[in-house]
Amino acid sequence: MNIQNNVSLKSYNTFGIQAKARAYIALTDAAILPSIPIADYSNFLVLGGGSNVLFTQDFDGLIIHNLLEGITCIEEDDQEVVVRVAAGENWHRFVLWAFDRAYAGIENLSLIPGSVGASPVQNIGAYGVEVKDVISQVDYFDFESKSFKTMSNADCAFAYRDSIFKRELKGKVCITYVYFRLQKNAKVNTSYGAIERTLAVKGISNPSIKDVSDAVIAIRSSKLPDPKVLGNGGSFFKNPIISRELLTRLQVKYPDIVYYEVDDEQVKVPAGWLIDRAGWKGHIKGQAQCHKDQALVLVNLGNATGQEIYDLSDTIAQSIKELYDIDLEREVSIF
Ligand code: EPU
Repeated sequence: MNIQNNVSLKSYNTFGIQAKARAYIALTDAAILPSIPIADYSNFLVLGGGSNVLFTQDFDGLIIHNLLEGITCIEEDDQEVVVRVAAGENWHRFVLWAFDRAYAGIENLSLIPGSVGASPVQNIGAYGVEVKDVISQVDYFDFESKSFKTMSNADCAFAYRDSIFKRELKGKVCITYVYFRLQKNAKVNTSYGAIERTLAVKGISNPSIKDVSDAVIAIRSSKLPDPKVLGNGGSFFKNPIISRELLTRLQVKYPDIVYYEVDDEQVKVPAGWLIDRAGWKGHIKGQAQCHKDQALVLVNLGNATGQEIYDLSDTIAQSIKELYDIDLEREVSIF
């Protein structure tokens, strides 16, 4: 087993933050999981594509870098296919694999950075689709019982950017495979306004999976910074869910506030709108910036430290609390 010491994590996190790990192992074979000596370290972290982590200091433990590979069809009929994907596969590479075969279900999730293994943890979502809609099963290694386990979709406790892997199982497991149920007779979801508009501009009335994926890629590329060019972790905060009573109070001062229906008592408000309206969009503090085109994304202008990005997020969160009486919750995991 090749455990390396003092490894730079700069190229393993999409913020491009310079931080070191006390120890690091590249996981390319799930069979070694039971023999990884996690008890020798004060803590450990399973890292996928590194697109949702912010290192504010060196990591004083063991990084298990999930690089498991492989995409296999395990069930197929006229209507659908069940695909088993290794957790270390790049998410967008899997999206391309699916639309090359005309398998529908994940085209709206095109270009989301990160790995397949992280997709159920976060229940990644975009443009009207969440990954929980297509996941059938998750396989993982449980470090506490030292055994391989399987979890059905229903047991994953999926919610908005949330799952059992962020709660009860946090820091206890390594996801090895995710199973997706994809459709052969394309039923694309174009209900999200921006997708409809993009397709209309191109004059496409009966979109294929590739048309939807291309539209999503165009929308994302126009607003969201490419982590290869400008380090970032996608949305930094979750969109907060607030009471209708608070919404009514806010509408007095902000009649144009954007919100989405949740239930009889609550609505969801885009954090990007709140931050933008508060005047933070484009704001620079040291090497950290609130992105100029999408206020929900914080970016590394070059040599930012994780602490610098964190401090900017703290200042923004405090201002949102003061202005709107709303507590923002970070979507990115802080280490
Ligand atoms: N808005 C502003 N100013 C901004 C940003 C947004 O006014 O700077 C407004 C927009 O005009 C729009 C509303 O806020 O009316 C929502 O914006 P957008 O459609 O860009 O989506 P979002 O709510 O900011 C969420 C997800 C994204 C996902 C998009 C599209 C969360 C935390 N973020 O963003 O996911 O791509 O919807 O479905 O739910 C991610 O999680 O990393 C991510 C990028």
